[in-house]
Parts: sequence; structure tokens; C-alpha cells
Amino acid sequence: MLITGGRTLEGSVRVCGGKNTAVAVIPATLLCDEPCTIENLPDISDVRALVDILRSLGAKVDYVPGAFMTVDPRPAEVCKVGYADSQRLRASYYLLGALLGRRGEAQVYHPGGCEIGSRPIDQHLKGFAALGAETETTGGRITVKAENLVGGDVFFDMVTVGGTINVMLAAAKAKGTTIIYNAAKEPHVVDLANFLNSMGAKVKGAGTDTIRIRGQEYLHTSTYAVIPDQIETGTLMIAAAATGGDVVINGCIPTHMEALSAKLLEMGAKVSDSDDAIRVRSLGVHRAINIKTQVYPGFPTDLQQPMSALLTTARGTSIVQETIFEHRFKHLDEMTRMGAKVRVEGRTASITGVPELFGAPVTCTDLRAGAALVVAGLMAHGTTEIYHPEYIDRGYEQIEQKLRSLGADIRRETAD
Ligand code: EPU
Repeated sequence: MLITGGRTLEGSVRVCGGKNTAVAVIPATLLCDEPCTIENLPDISDVRALVDILRSLGAKVDYVPGAFMTVDPRPAEVCKVGYADSQRLRASYYLLGALLGRRGEAQVYHPGGCEIGSRPIDQHLKGFAALGAETETTGGRITVKAENLVGGDVFFDMVTVGGTINVMLAAAKAKGTTIIYNAAKEPHVVDLANFLNSMGAKVKGAGTDTIRIRGQEYLHTSTYAVIPDQIETGTLMIAAAATGGDVVINGCIPTHMEALSAKLLEMGAKVSDSDDAIRVRSLGVHRAINIKTQVYPGFPTDLQQPMSALLTTARGTSIVQETIFEHRFKHLDEMTRMGAKVRVEGRTASITGVPELFGAPVTCTDLRAGAALVVAGLMAHGTTEIYHPEYIDRGYEQIEQKLRSLGADIRRETAD
């Protein structure tokens, strides 16, 4: 991906459906006893991988990229996801909860996805065990099995988005009531609950730290549109500020963006919103700030990386604390090649603003690191070459087209 920086982003852009909600809602279609349709899906590689996986399980999938997907799960007889498919995305682990709920058994390999920490799934397995499942892990292969899946109490040791979603999936079809304590409150947890309820499930309390799920034997057809992508919205907001631009982001949910909006305001940008749009304006001169990543509604770890790109030119020294994932600073090493002044100690980075970044060859190490390099490239003097942009395609739909429509000079070429 080649970006020649220094262009001011201006105009309006529409966000797509949320990645982290799509990757939960698509496996959830396996719980349905009739065909169902999911709309507003982002056209990203994680969604395409899930289409292949559902088909490999025997489900009939009619998929129109960037539009909708109809899944008829009734012919799905297979309960195993192979190694290669499991590795294609992190969210392959949701097949554990979905297949356990659907057929009482599942086999999935330890998932792939971005390498931003050790990312164990012990809490997911503990949750399945509380629902009466036996769990076994050998050679990276995870098997969960339950003759009778029954509701149970699940106490998470830490707030886990994946664990909360996985237990919700299995519990939707378990006999009796499951209560998840210390549940994640992220918007995509609420979106999954809404989708499950639209099929007749009984999920209450999503969005709080206690979720109650009364399992149902039969879930009926539904047509459901996933919520807009909170992280794409945030990345575009940051890109607008980073280029001293004036951008309206349409089709988003401003209340999901409050932690970021507050930080941009603190830096000196102007942020205003209406029901489903946010406008970010900036003169491109920003104050240094401190950030600590937290679970929702705190500052999201997924925006820490793009935000730290913006901080590289803010006046003063910013302190960024990453509390969720232990290896989520790899993008900073890459940005030092572009002139960023950064010191990392454990989970804390201190970023001292420089007057200007300059273009350099850099490499994506994970999805949001890629988004950070795009923001840095948009700000930099000269041309930035971003290698391995396929990481970005995991979670951003048509990123070049969207940024180009706002005035960016960005394109993709095949490297030698
Ligand atoms: N954790 C455990 N044990 C578990 C589960 C989690 O120790 O069984 C730890 C993790 O290692 C981490 C923390 O708990 O330190 C939180 O992990 P969580 O389970 O919440 O994260 P996740 O489900 O692996 C999802 C998103 C991430 C996003 C995080 C936090 C998906 C597919 N992934 O990951 O998204 O950063 O929640 O909001 O939904 C991204 O989109 O770039 C991305 C990485």
C-alpha cells in the first residue's frame, strides 16, 4: 500500500457493518432452526473466511459481498473445523460455542488472528464446562462435548469479549438459565444478544456486567442488520484529525465513540455529532494526552494503535498504557522508521511529538497496527510503503477507496 502524505481529508464517508459483531453473528446463524439473513455485513476477509467455514460444515450459504448473507444451517452435519480454517481468523473460536449449542459437540483448532498477546481461551472453556460440557485440548485441537447442555453460572476471572460471546452462543440452546457474571459490555455483545433475541432467544442484561440467557429448544428465522463498525468509525475520526481535515462520518453510532471523541477534544480537535453521524474538524495542531486502554465504555484497545500514530506529532509527551493485550505496540517500532520518537517499557509507551513524520517502508504486524501505519502515512511527508496490507483487509472494507474519496493519495501495488 503506497500513501503519499500531507493531503487534508475532507468530505463525507459511510462506515460499514462492524467486524467484531459480524464475526459473532455469522456463527450464531448455526443456532437457528430455519434459514436466516444477516445484512450490513462488511466485505472483509474475516467474513469471507467464515462463509467458507460455514459451507465446509454443510450449511447452505448465499452470500452477496458487502450486502447480505442468507444461511440455511439445517444441512450442516459437520462439527469440526480444520486447522487451516481455524487459523484464518481469531473468531473461528465462536464455532465452538455455536456448534456446542447446535449439536452438543465441536472441534476447532486454537484460533489464528492477530498476534497481539498470548490470548488464551481458558475462560471460554471454563464457561462451557459450567454448562456441563467436557473440554479437551490436545495438539492445539480443542474438543468440547456435552450430552446434555444445561444452563449454569459462569464467573469470568477477567472481562473477556470472546468468552462472553462464546458462552452466550452455547447457552442460547442449553436447557435452563445461564448467568454470566463479569460479562463484557462491548456494543457487539449487545448486538449478538439482539440477534439471538430476534430469533426467539431469551437474553437479558447484555450491555451490563450480568447477562441472563434462558435456553430455547427452537430458534426461528430472522433478518438482522449488524451495527456499524465502531473501530472503522474511530479510525476515520483519527485520520480526519491527523490530516487537519474536516470529515463527516455517516451511518455510525456516536454514543459508541464517546471515549475517543473525548480524547480528540482534549487534543484540540473539534467533534460534533447527530443521531447517526460524527463530524471531526482539526487544524492539525494537537496537544499531547494520556491514554489507558480499558474495556467498554473505556478507551478501546483496538483504537490505541491508530491513536498513537496521531500522538507522534502532538505537542509534548503522551503516555499510552495498554492494559488489555501485552504485545500491542509493534506498530511503534515501525513508526520510529518514519521519525516518531517513542519509548516503550512493558505495557507503557511514551510518545514525544515531532514536528513531522516522513515516508518510509514499514510492515504491518497486525490489523490495527496496519491502521496505525495508514494514519501515519497520511500525516507523513513523502511516500510511505506499507508491506503486508492484507492484515488491514481483515477488518477494513475498501479502505483505499474510502480514503481516496476524502482526498487521500493512497493505492496498492504488487511488491516484487
Ligand atoms: N483472556 C484470557 N483468557 C480468556 C479470554 C481472554 O486470559 O479465556 C484475556 C486476553 O488475553 C486479554 C483479555 O483477556 O488479555 C481480553 O481478551 P478478550 O477475550 O476480551 O479479547 P478477544 O475476544 O480475544 C476481542 C476482539 C479484539 C478486541 C478485544 C478487546 C474479536 C474477534 N476480537 O478479542 O479485536 O481487541 O476483544 O476488545 O472480537 C481487533 O479487532 O483488532 C481485535 C483484536
